Amino acid sequence: MGNQLFDQQFMHGGDYNPDQWLAYPEILQKDLAYMQQAHVNTVTLGVFAWSALEPQEGVYRFDWLDRVFDQIHSIGGKVILATPSGGRPQWLSQKYPEVNRTNAQGQKHSHGFRHNHCYSSPIYREKVTQINQQLAKRYGKHPALAMWHISNEYSGECFCSYCQENWRRWLQKKYGDLATLNHAWWTSFWSGTYSDWSQVLPPSPLGEHKVHGMDLDWKRFVTDRTIDFYLHECTPIRQLTPDIPVTTNFMAEGHATQDFIPLEGIDYSKFARHVDIVSWDSYPDWNNNFESLAATAMKSAYVHDQYWSLKKQPFLVMECTPSFVNWHSINKAKKPGVHQLSAMQQIAHGSDSTLYFQWRQSRGNSEKFHGAVVGHDDSTENRVFKEVAAYGKRLEKIKEIQGTTRKKAVAILFDWESNWALKRGGGFGRPTRRYPQTLQEHYRYFWEQDIAVDILTPEQDFSDYQLVIAPMLYLMTAETMAKLCQYTEAGGTLISSYFSGMVNETDLLYLGGLPQPLRGLLGINVLELETLFDTEHNQVVFQGQPFETRDYSAIIEAETAEVLGEYQADFYQGTPAITKNAFGAGTAYYLAARTNYDFFEQFYASLARELSLAEERIAHANPEVSIQGRISPERTYFFIMNFSEKEQTLDLIKEVVDLETNQAVPPTVTLAPYEVRVVYFNN
Ligand code: GAL
Repeated sequence: MGNQLFDQQFMHGGDYNPDQWLAYPEILQKDLAYMQQAHVNTVTLGVFAWSALEPQEGVYRFDWLDRVFDQIHSIGGKVILATPSGGRPQWLSQKYPEVNRTNAQGQKHSHGFRHNHCYSSPIYREKVTQINQQLAKRYGKHPALAMWHISNEYSGECFCSYCQENWRRWLQKKYGDLATLNHAWWTSFWSGTYSDWSQVLPPSPLGEHKVHGMDLDWKRFVTDRTIDFYLHECTPIRQLTPDIPVTTNFMAEGHATQDFIPLEGIDYSKFARHVDIVSWDSYPDWNNNFESLAATAMKSAYVHDQYWSLKKQPFLVMECTPSFVNWHSINKAKKPGVHQLSAMQQIAHGSDSTLYFQWRQSRGNSEKFHGAVVGHDDSTENRVFKEVAAYGKRLEKIKEIQGTTRKKAVAILFDWESNWALKRGGGFGRPTRRYPQTLQEHYRYFWEQDIAVDILTPEQDFSDYQLVIAPMLYLMTAETMAKLCQYTEAGGTLISSYFSGMVNETDLLYLGGLPQPLRGLLGINVLELETLFDTEHNQVVFQGQPFETRDYSAIIEAETAEVLGEYQADFYQGTPAITKNAFGAGTAYYLAARTNYDFFEQFYASLARELSLAEERIAHANPEVSIQGRISPERTYFFIMNFSEKEQTLDLIKEVVDLETNQAVPPTVTLAPYEVRVVYFNN
């Protein structure tokens, strides 16, 4: 459904909040003309408009929204209509305090700001159903309505009595009886055995959170509760507007730190099954002072690829900023050209939209200094507006790419549940677990080499990929082990590592060393997992070169595996650190130590050669120039993106045509700083 959403046009626009400007008709009037100037064709309405839509309980006001719908339609635009549950009206919190969230310490929120409602409250569910019903009835058939945006950035958890009751029910359904739960959570430790269901509370900061299995289940429960609330919101919408696609905006995290990774708190692989099209809010820390632009671009690319992979179909960037955010400690503007570059990167990785938060900068309140398309100067002459307009115009020129797919031979496996379990567990190096960040280091090689990668969960089908990279898969079910074996046996190449296959789905350790299916697959046994201080290193010699290790060394013995690299020091000197095992028609590698990027460069370069992974490239790789492709039945498109402040020259190895000029591209391409070229060849 997602691919046909907008009939060969990328969505360009974003959150439009006329509800903030109802007392300023002259501003609202200008917005339409400005939108046309900015090549905006889509607006998201109503995200936080509940108090404007229902100023008093049961008293609805739609006149302003009717007008905006019609106006947007009159300029040929489309509306993504949000349900307003992310920010409830004051009267609702006041009259029905149960709708306000309860924190882990048992304190009830007051109205507060937003995103702090309970997912279980029957009253909140009822009120949400009513407003959603009203919206669907009124706008469901409006010709401008393109899609539903359910709520906003679902997140968080509630510890009220309703949620606790649901938690116990969820556990009863999962475990059936307390004996099974007690075993799964290993509650005999520290005398934690439950003898009655009423004793089972949520994890709390006062102590019970030390039960690892409970913590893991709580996180699963929070995901399920969030999805349940979302599905509840969708019910009237699906009934009244069955043909309008539905999404909700996912998030990334790590902003204002050096990390940028998919949100860890909600299992989006589960959530994605319930949306028609994946969408997410993309706020990488562009132009920061701690890493190169290319390093930021690599992390941003990773998150795009992960969200692409949830459905393996085009997604939407529901929010991004054309300039800066307001919630970093230092809110840096994107330098001239970087908006265009970062937005084209979205499209290159499979987005069918660039949508902003927000269209017009708020006059007051907490996000008044957040970047927007129209600033407080109310001018279409400033740099940001002009860059947005130029970008919108470019999107129109390359619109035939909308809806196209991507082709990938490499998959990285990421598992939300395994990440939760790994982060929770004691022992080893707590700050150095860094599972998603480690996957990004593997990913970096492929990004720098312009080899496209999917990031899948183990439940997805990975049988068709030439290379599957599954390091640090700490929690592994028997099914996942079987799938990895089948994949390799059938001819696949698998990468595994330290911290793999240690616990089952309830976080109980596998007894007797590495579980048998993995032992056969990898041809090794794991004897110990040694943790290093940050000042401590070992060395591994691989292909005749030494590589420094850090953080973790699995101490292993090779059974059937061939040893490709050995540790050079410490009590495990001379033992295997890198192994390769032939398994059926395929090969399974084990990386026992955590290494730096230089090792990945060497290791994956050999594999890429062996598996001919780089054959589809159109140019020799340059680590600061990223090339990503999209494919239609007729054409293969490439976005050539210069993520550096300097001019870059590329030697093409295939003949391509510039999509915007329709001219053949000469074999040597020079890119200005931050420049993006969009090229294609006919299939
Ligand atoms: C998003 C949120 C928007 C706005 C934006 C600012 O996370 O959905 O409503 O707050 O951040 O960057």
